[in-house]
Amino acid sequence: MIRAYVFDIYGTLINEDTIETTAEKLYPGRGRLLGSIWRDKQNEYTFLRQIMGRYRPFHQIALDSLHFAANAAHVILTPEAEAWLMDAYNHLPPFDDAAVLLRELQQNGRRTVALSNGSPDLLFPLLQNSGLAAYFDLVISVDEIRQYKPSPAAYSLALDHTGLKREEMMFVSAHGWDVSGAASFGFRTAWVNRRGEPQEELQLPPDFELNNLAAVAETL
Ligand code: LAC
Repeated sequence: MIRAYVFDIYGTLINEDTIETTAEKLYPGRGRLLGSIWRDKQNEYTFLRQIMGRYRPFHQIALDSLHFAANAAHVILTPEAEAWLMDAYNHLPPFDDAAVLLRELQQNGRRTVALSNGSPDLLFPLLQNSGLAAYFDLVISVDEIRQYKPSPAAYSLALDHTGLKREEMMFVSAHGWDVSGAASFGFRTAWVNRRGEPQEELQLPPDFELNNLAAVAETL
């Protein structure tokens, strides 16, 4: 019996695609590239820092990645542009079907949990601004233990906070690497594969592969 649904945030419930359009307004012709490198580097730096044992909060990683992306896309990042782009990250929109799904899960007696690599200073304002905060029973940032997903310790936070068992959790993410990490830890998993990407070859397939968030309700 699944008692809680645990969600990744960036890219799963919150739509990061708008960051490329926002960056394009600032740097016409180069913004898309900057936005795309920025997003990829954020994940890469969390993985690298986790492996090296050199934690830095996600807010700092977002800044470091932005500096790299600006250099790689050959744009000048003024302090004003930096502040504007970082602020845009706190105002990313939710996916259309996010609030409806969270409410439906709660109405069906399931606990709704956010488990994000985002640091509290980014995560909490983002969830407030997007209107999703009200639909969570619990919001957890890995910053509490300074270890990033996909480390097992990060997924374990959801157990520590709920007192539930691994097999009572359904972990929902749009990221193949994140779903694999959660499956490796022992959670049931639902992969929201909006773009029809191939499955990761990590021998940890998701229990459910879905096209959108609305379909997650079918796992009830
Ligand atoms: C998160 C990022 C990794 O919310 O999507 O944890």
